[in-house]
Amino acid sequence: MIGVGDMVLLEPLSEDSFLENLKKRFDHNEIYTYIGSVVISVNPYRSLPIYTPEKVEEYRNRNFYELSPHIYALADEAYRSLRDQDKDQCILITGESGAGKTEASKLVMSYVAAVCGKGQEVNKVKEQLLQSNPVLEAFGNAKTVRNDNSSRFGKYMDIEFDFKGDPLGGVISNYLLEKSRVVKQPRGERNFHVFYQLLSGASDETLKKLKLDRDVSKYNYLCLDSASVSGVDDAANFRTVRNAMQIVGFMEDEVQSVLQLVAAVLKLGNIEFKPESRSNGLDESRVKDKNDLKEMCELLGIEQSVLERAFSYRTVEAKSEKVSTTLNVAQAQAKTRHKVMGVLDIYGFEIFEDNSFEQFIINYCNEKLQQIFIELTLREEQEEYIREGIEWTNIEYFNNAVICDLMENNQNGILAMLDEECLRPGTVTDETFLDKLNTICAEHQHFESRLSKNSKFLTDHSLPHNCFRIQHYAGKVLYRVEGFVDKNNDLLYRDLSQAMYKANHNLIKQLFPEGSPAKINLKRPPTAGFQFKASVGTLMRNLQTKNPNYIRCIKPNDKKASHIFTESLVCHQVRYLGLMENVRVRRAGYAFRQAYEACLERYKMLCKKTWPHWKGPARQGVEVLMADLKVPPEEYSYGRSKIFIRNPRTLFFLEERRRQCLQDLAALIQKIYRGWKCRRQFLLMKKSQVVVAAWYRRYAQEKKYKKIKHATTVMQSYARGWQARKLLRQLKHQKRCEEAATTIAAYWHGTQVRREYRKFFRANAGRKIYNFTVQRIIQKYFLNLRKNLPSMSPIDKSWPTRPYSFLDGVHTELRRIFHLWRCKKYRSQFTEEKKAVYEEKLEASELFKDKKALYPSSVSQSFKGDYLEINKNPKYQKLHSAVDEKVLLADTISKINRANGKGTPRIFLLTKKSVVLADQKTGQVKASVPLLDLASVSVSKQSDGFFALKLKEGSASAVKGDFLLSSERLIEIITKLYRLSAANAERVPLSVDISDEFLVQFKNDKVCVKFIQGSPRNGNSASCKRKNNRLLEVSVPSTP
Ligand SMILES: Nc1ncnc2c1ncn2[C@@H]1O[C@H](COP(=O)(O)OP(=O)(O)OP(=O)(O)O)[C@@H](O)[C@H]1O
Ligand SMILES: [Mg+2]
Repeated sequence: MIGVGDMVLLEPLSEDSFLENLKKRFDHNEIYTYIGSVVISVNPYRSLPIYTPEKVEEYRNRNFYELSPHIYALADEAYRSLRDQDKDQCILITGESGAGKTEASKLVMSYVAAVCGKGQEVNKVKEQLLQSNPVLEAFGNAKTVRNDNSSRFGKYMDIEFDFKGDPLGGVISNYLLEKSRVVKQPRGERNFHVFYQLLSGASDETLKKLKLDRDVSKYNYLCLDSASVSGVDDAANFRTVRNAMQIVGFMEDEVQSVLQLVAAVLKLGNIEFKPESRSNGLDESRVKDKNDLKEMCELLGIEQSVLERAFSYRTVEAKSEKVSTTLNVAQAQAKTRHKVMGVLDIYGFEIFEDNSFEQFIINYCNEKLQQIFIELTLREEQEEYIREGIEWTNIEYFNNAVICDLMENNQNGILAMLDEECLRPGTVTDETFLDKLNTICAEHQHFESRLSKNSKFLTDHSLPHNCFRIQHYAGKVLYRVEGFVDKNNDLLYRDLSQAMYKANHNLIKQLFPEGSPAKINLKRPPTAGFQFKASVGTLMRNLQTKNPNYIRCIKPNDKKASHIFTESLVCHQVRYLGLMENVRVRRAGYAFRQAYEACLERYKMLCKKTWPHWKGPARQGVEVLMADLKVPPEEYSYGRSKIFIRNPRTLFFLEERRRQCLQDLAALIQKIYRGWKCRRQFLLMKKSQVVVAAWYRRYAQEKKYKKIKHATTVMQSYARGWQARKLLRQLKHQKRCEEAATTIAAYWHGTQVRREYRKFFRANAGRKIYNFTVQRIIQKYFLNLRKNLPSMSPIDKSWPTRPYSFLDGVHTELRRIFHLWRCKKYRSQFTEEKKAVYEEKLEASELFKDKKALYPSSVSQSFKGDYLEINKNPKYQKLHSAVDEKVLLADTISKINRANGKGTPRIFLLTKKSVVLADQKTGQVKASVPLLDLASVSVSKQSDGFFALKLKEGSASAVKGDFLLSSERLIEIITKLYRLSAANAERVPLSVDISDEFLVQFKNDKVCVKFIQGSPRNGNSASCKRKNNRLLEVSVPSTP
């Protein structure tokens, strides 16, 4: 810690050591120092890295004295008392102009915003509260010689919190704006920021809409020489302000209205008047250049003639008749009572070269604040000690109540007299006001005037005639009376306000409600001084209901420069702020006091005797409590109704114990609640468990029972089976025994009988009996067979069954012999012709059975041979004669045309020696082939009647080629042909080829005849087609 953090602990205490400590700390960037719970802040005039979010966290929820002094510690203390102890708080920031009050108020607000609750709604409120600052500063702050961002109005903001400590909203009250600054600024100062911000920050388009020019020099109200402030970016600030207005809740058209108004004020400043004397002797003013007037009227929607008339009808001094906008960013005030934290930031005490009514008012306000500080920290406190009977040695201090009285006394206070002057009939000027002051206040020790009867000042040349001087708590200030009366009256001529009310512009209308024709009020409005006094009074009463927290700002130098600590200047401030007295009272006094009841209520849980209820008087309870807690007796004193605690550390000790105790209590409650909850849960679970167990046991038992039952059944069945088998075995054994007994008995009887009869038989009788028996059986067999012989038909397959198996071979042989015999008998009945027929049939069977599909159909047909009966039919006479041999076969067949496969009918004759083909109609012989010339016959395996007669190569008949013929009697024809060739011993028998594919020699070329299975659809007969010159295809309908 650099120096001493809390001046109360400074040793030795003197003004010098006080200043030295401040300087030492200031030089080491420690700008904050405590006097007990009061924070002294020295303006560093540069940004220090002590306001970071990490710092906020560091100071959050920490005790006031735990960390090095900081404005955050005060803000945290105030916020926590508000939240936890339900005490409304106010933060009073005092100090002269430029001492850092506004900055301090912003730091407090930002700290509170950072530590209080979070959430969408809360954050919005916080944003609105924080963003109200740029807007208020734009319209209410200006550069002065003392401060580049001097507040030209007083601001008091009440921030409301709910029970949790979350901000709900805020109410901002403004006090007397320094209106005169709009029209006139002292040298080196500026008008309100907003004008410069608008001109440099607004877009070209906006400026055009507002009929403005970016050039500051074009406007009379904006003094050229100090138009820009170093280190201030007006354009950027304009954007900040626009954004802030939006966040605070201005609608876009409202923002536009405000900007229009600002523009209109600038235009108004440019309007110049020229005096004109009228013939009736009255003075009149005329507008010189009407362009600005016209534009202004357009902006505000006022008819130009109306305004011009209003200007012209009276001689008006434009400079003192200006209006200022008063901004009210009042948030909706909640109906229910909420905790409130008030932050007061007013214009600081100021002394200018030329001090007027505004400075008078500002300094009056500061006097009042000093008064409240004295009241609460010095006088009240000391009086309380005496009242409570605490031993106390009085500490002297300067009480500025007397100055306040000089200014505000209802009878002869300066403000009262100014009002009186203003309301008095007759000619009233600033001078008559001064005269009045001179007569009435002359005797007041803090009032000085050249013309007062007090001869002391008659020769004081620093006091001009038109001035009066007041010895304020913070120094002497010389006030020039010029303008006092007018400014106090604060009157606007009715025709002007009426003209304004006629504007087609909502905001203007609202600003001049008195211009409404419905509201013509002849009563004078209250004077500015009166209003201000009243609002200061309200403010003071409001502050007194709250727990005060002080920030006393000190300005280290007059140059707005960092690192400079002008000791004389600081000393002056230390003196008039009464800081030394503050330290002394603190050192002698007690840091904390509380009524016994409240104290007992708060700390009773720290002692078993007082917890939970103390029956006796509260004071005794507190005494017991303190004794029990073993607090050293010098740390506290008992007053009449309150306990006084000397050191904050004792309080922190109590609070810490209480916090601990609360935690323990909470843990206890938690424990009991958890126990109760767990037990309830347990009981519920137990109940459920019983139900589940019951059901489960039932199920398990049922399952077990079924299992046992099943096992029993199985065992039973096995046992029964075993018993049954045992019984069966017994019965079988019994039966076998019986059988054995019978057999034995039979053999025994047999033996008995044989033994008995043996004597009656000869020794070889057995052989004979056997032979006899066999013969007898065979005889019987033959006789039986003769009786049962089957019929003589060779196809009868029946045969009697054999009686004995040993006759098996004989029986089969007999059957064979009988069959052969039967067949022989059958054959012997045949005539010669029939025999031949059967031979032929047999031959056919050998040739074709199972080889050609046509064969089975031929079995039942008898081979008649001469179907045409040639020798009888006269039609074939000629043919008959041509064939000299006997015709063995004559029939009509088809000769297949070798060119297209179509058939031509031909008569086919077969004789012993040759085959003849003749025309069917004429009987003319077409071809005659000797049998010797035939090489082979080819037929298919199918049911068709095609056959090829192939001729021996080189034979005479072979010249014409082979014959491809077709006949239904193919089997007969081929059989006959074959038999003929076989009968001839000279030659090899004709070969019969059965194949589905064979070659036929047609004249010169060989053609392949191929048989395929055709579909039955093509009719029943086979059809032949010439496919190409090498292939004849015969499609045979498939036999179903
Ligand atoms: N804590 C601080 N850290 C850095 N700079 C500061 C601080 N406090 C004040 N300043 C500087 O001092 C200037 C003046 O401070 P501020 O505007 O708060 O004074 P004020 O007391 O409100 O004066 P007035 O009575 O004229 O309104 C600020 O613009 C800022 O530059
Ligand atoms: Mg300020």
